Amino acid sequence: MARSKALPLLFFLGLLSFSFSPAIATIKFNFFYLTLMWPGTYCNGIPFNKCCRPTAGTPAPDFFVQALKPYNITTGETVTECAIECCFSLKLVKKLIDDLNHYWSDVSCPSNNGHRLWEDVWCTYGTCSNLTESVYFQRALALRAQVNLLSIFKRNGIVPSSTKYYSLKGIQKALKGIPGSSTVVECNRQWLFFGDYYLYKIHICISSDAKSIISCPIKKSTINCGSEVKFLPFDPRELPVSTGAHNMPAANPIKMPAAAIDMDM
Ligand SMILES: *[C@@H]1O[C@H](CO)[C@@H](O)[C@H](O)[C@H]1NC(C)=O
Ligand SMILES: *[C@@H]1O[C@H](CO)[C@@H](O)[C@H](O)[C@H]1NC(C)=O
Repeated sequence: MARSKALPLLFFLGLLSFSFSPAIATIKFNFFYLTLMWPGTYCNGIPFNKCCRPTAGTPAPDFFVQALKPYNITTGETVTECAIECCFSLKLVKKLIDDLNHYWSDVSCPSNNGHRLWEDVWCTYGTCSNLTESVYFQRALALRAQVNLLSIFKRNGIVPSSTKYYSLKGIQKALKGIPGSSTVVECNRQWLFFGDYYLYKIHICISSDAKSIISCPIKKSTINCGSEVKFLPFDPRELPVSTGAHNMPAANPIKMPAAAIDMDM
């Protein structure tokens, strides 16, 4: 992690360039992927099989923001960890706290207030975004609202169900309803290598200033999906509260993997 100890000289140089211009020092990307995640799949997939109710706020029964990820076309990878010393301040996103609790919720176990997740996302992706912390979170939330995936799906008859299968083609067709966009659909498999496919994430291409939805510069349309996909229900009211006493240790992979999952996206 960028937060690990660095040589004092590097730290000093980092401070220097930071104080001159955070912009010039950090731009290494061409566009963003806005990654939206369906919690119904996150909470039902295996091995990530259960979720817990956050200790603050109420998660929305809707797509969550996972991250706004800067992407470099030349390297074919997301750009991560651009700060030598990463500093996340909750104060800077205080005005957004309701939206963060609703749409950027950490439903992993044990129950937690989400602060660790936001810090992880900021340190992993935000520091590379050429945006300030408050603007980074604000833009990502605004873009999520603008896209409004759930209503687009609903309009096309695609609603959460534990039994129904939807064609991937139908899902992609519905996504064409996002003006100016092209998207990448990502699925998760019930048993890792076999079983049903679950709709998991939608990656939407965003301009490098994080202001508008764009047509993706990279031709890639699906990740790990079959031709028939389930869209599992998610009811935040059913999430159990857990103190963590009987749960797995904090380092458990069940923690919302802001960085661990598909670094190439
Ligand atoms: C980085 O941010 C600065 C300040 O907002 C802006 O002037 C500049 O155009 C940005 N650079 C890119 C490549 O978006
Ligand atoms: C992408 O990464 C390469 C290698 O680090 C770098 O040379 C290039 O300038 C980056 N592209 C952009 C648009 O920043």
